[in-house]
Amino acid sequence: MGFTDEIARRRTFAIISHPDAGKTTLTEKLLLFGGAIHVAGAVKSNKIKKTATSDWMEIEKQRGISVATSVMGFNYADHKINILDTPGHQDFAEDTFRTLTAVDSVIIVVDCAKGVEVQTRRLMEVCRMRKTPVMIFVNKLDREGQDAFDLLDELEEELQIAVRPLSWPIGIGKTFKGVYNMYRSELNLFRPDKQLVTERITFDSLEDPELDKQISPALGQKLREDLELLSGVYPEFDLESYLAGELAPVFFGSALNNFGVKELLDCFIEIAPAPRPVQALERTVEPTEKDFSGFVFKIHANMDPNHRSCIAFVKVCSGRFERNSYYKHMRLDKQLRFSSPTAFMAQKKEILDEAYAGDIVGLPDTGNFKIGDTLTSGENLHFRGLPSFSPELFKYIENDDPMKQKQLQKGIDQLMGEGVAQLFTNQFNGRKIIGTVGQLQFEVIQYRLLHEYGASCKWQPLSLYKACWIESDKPQALEQFKKRKVQYMAYDIEGRDVFLADSAYVLQMARQDFPDIRFHFTSEF
Ligand code: G4P
Repeated sequence: MGFTDEIARRRTFAIISHPDAGKTTLTEKLLLFGGAIHVAGAVKSNKIKKTATSDWMEIEKQRGISVATSVMGFNYADHKINILDTPGHQDFAEDTFRTLTAVDSVIIVVDCAKGVEVQTRRLMEVCRMRKTPVMIFVNKLDREGQDAFDLLDELEEELQIAVRPLSWPIGIGKTFKGVYNMYRSELNLFRPDKQLVTERITFDSLEDPELDKQISPALGQKLREDLELLSGVYPEFDLESYLAGELAPVFFGSALNNFGVKELLDCFIEIAPAPRPVQALERTVEPTEKDFSGFVFKIHANMDPNHRSCIAFVKVCSGRFERNSYYKHMRLDKQLRFSSPTAFMAQKKEILDEAYAGDIVGLPDTGNFKIGDTLTSGENLHFRGLPSFSPELFKYIENDDPMKQKQLQKGIDQLMGEGVAQLFTNQFNGRKIIGTVGQLQFEVIQYRLLHEYGASCKWQPLSLYKACWIESDKPQALEQFKKRKVQYMAYDIEGRDVFLADSAYVLQMARQDFPDIRFHFTSEF
């Protein structure tokens, strides 16, 4: 197969959802269809149960599982599919955001009873920001749920994206009979079992009496009316709008019962984008360029605390990556060679000789990589990662063992490089502040500092509302602001100025008093 064909056949995506909507189940069913696994139950859910905030075994288990299931590659109908897994627990949302920088499209799973939940909304914001094409799978139709029309309205409103159903459910819960595949004009009947078969019946027209026979005249009539209504309300599916991230096709089904999954997958490989161009600081990089380039979007560090072994996950943005070739590490300005890069096929890791744009390569590492690092064949390129978002919780981190100051420093540096949380340094007194999305991250940091670096830390409370990255067209105004607020100014890990507002009121007053300053809740604006 030629170089460009290899790239064109790749589909790299993430499945995202609020915990429990069915992400793990859907992933598993996709792997079953791809022949990558043969029994249900092989994909372990990598979610930490909500109650387990202090269960270190769970966290360690999670880290073990998530390295195994971080990327699942398989071949299906001449396509190479790469599914990137995302952590289920909301405290690790930043990890998910970063994974979204490495995908070309996304499938969102929504529970038909619960509709759009908090986490889904936040993840969708990131997709919207990056104009990532999104497909929606409405799951658990075998259970009682909301009316499909209401769900579509909710999806549109809550996710702020135009939707277009490409399949339509017939009944729901106890009365669920199947879905009508509008994309292919065929009826898929639901048989509640977990086998790999779905019964498919094609009709020349919806007036075919066989339809009423299969699903009852009443449901047949309702389906005809629904479809007529749909065609009046929703314009034809437009591929360009989908690829531009402006329109989300919607599918209905039940992942657990294997229903509607194949339809989703078949449509997915047809319409989902092959590797897309990636924006570097210097220029746009096309996937089909001959020269290799890629960036690190995830690091799994210290799986074995005795050997500082990490795996850096690199998304290949262009060209072909080859084992034992020298590549330039941009930040370190160093040539590096990788003798045992890994590919992720289904749940196995194996040494790879080459990988193409769209693929994810795992590079064993001993501390060379940080999140966002770029590797190239030689050209000076810097891929832009995802901006940092203002954390929700803040605490001072302090050394609890005077003999281990160095270890603590090193541990903090590495954990932050890995993207575990955000570090701010107060400009006034130099104190270090850790910002997180959830409490669990503090516990993970403390535990890992102790077990991997032998360093003890303690937390001091700090009540802050938001971290705001600031800018102004008037350097003088900026200087004046920083002087006035010096006790609340900090540097982020990149050395950028951040204003730590301790309440919404303080921020509002700052906005009023300093109209020339713009305040942002993300580091890129
Ligand atoms: P997640 O990764 O998004 O967190 O969700 P996961 O797939 O783990 O699914 C959450 C729960 O929902 C699981 O039940 C799963 O079996 C169930 N589920 C997934 N798809 C469907 C569906 O189409 N219909 C129905 N009725 N249930 C579905 P659990 O009891 O939490 O776990 P388990 O003991 O079954 O593994």
